[in-house]
Amino acid sequence: MKILGIDIGGSAVKGAPVDTKTGRLLAERHRIATDGKPTPAQMAETVKELAAHFKWRGPIGVGFPGVIHGPRIFTSANLHKDFCGCDAVSLFGQSTGCRVALVNDADAAGLAEIRFGAGRNVSGTVLLLTLGTGVGSALFSEGRLYQNSELGHLPIRGKSAERFVSSAAKVRRDLSYRKWGKELGDYVHILENILWPELIIIGGGVSKDHQKFFKHIKPRAKLVPAEFFNEAGIVGAALWAAEQK
Ligand code: BGC
Repeated sequence: MKILGIDIGGSAVKGAPVDTKTGRLLAERHRIATDGKPTPAQMAETVKELAAHFKWRGPIGVGFPGVIHGPRIFTSANLHKDFCGCDAVSLFGQSTGCRVALVNDADAAGLAEIRFGAGRNVSGTVLLLTLGTGVGSALFSEGRLYQNSELGHLPIRGKSAERFVSSAAKVRRDLSYRKWGKELGDYVHILENILWPELIIIGGGVSKDHQKFFKHIKPRAKLVPAEFFNEAGIVGAALWAAEQK
């Protein structure tokens, strides 16, 4: 199946048509930068522009950084607050004129990795963490996704863990890879003691520098970088749409 995968993020909306049988992009990824925090109506225009770029008429999978229940967004920690309670399937469906399926962005990235990337052929419990503006998580047991795990909001010192261990937090707090890696390690150990994953996959742009900080994490589980880098969210959003009946 050919599905347009779209990844909504803190600073840009990215998308590309995806072959959901192979997980490959069928055209070069298109990125539209967003200024500030666009409202749902402004975001609907950006999503429309992205679909128009590919002259798209088919199904669309959209990944969004918040809790998703069916067609609705429940939380929006780093994007505009008006997304909370928003029926994004109708919103983006109306702006593009296409059938839309909606999924959490980290769940999308996890789907891409488990089907075609670093988690393929791995059974048992697999945890993916995406480190970016926030911290996203995707949890799989025997290849099945447990949706909206939201482990980036595990409380640490009274605040969401993502305030300390996201890659944005590393920049904001001006931490070395060593210091940040150790804090990330403490966080990963908490998650390991609760979930006991066999495999932990680290995604997000910073995962390309994994050699600089993996050595400070010292996990019990096998720890690997994501294989998709920039494209996991796009590919996974398309896979999600393909798997919805
Ligand atoms: C959101 C998650 C999202 C993560 C990564 C968090 O702030 O609550 O839903 O997956 O950021 O974008």
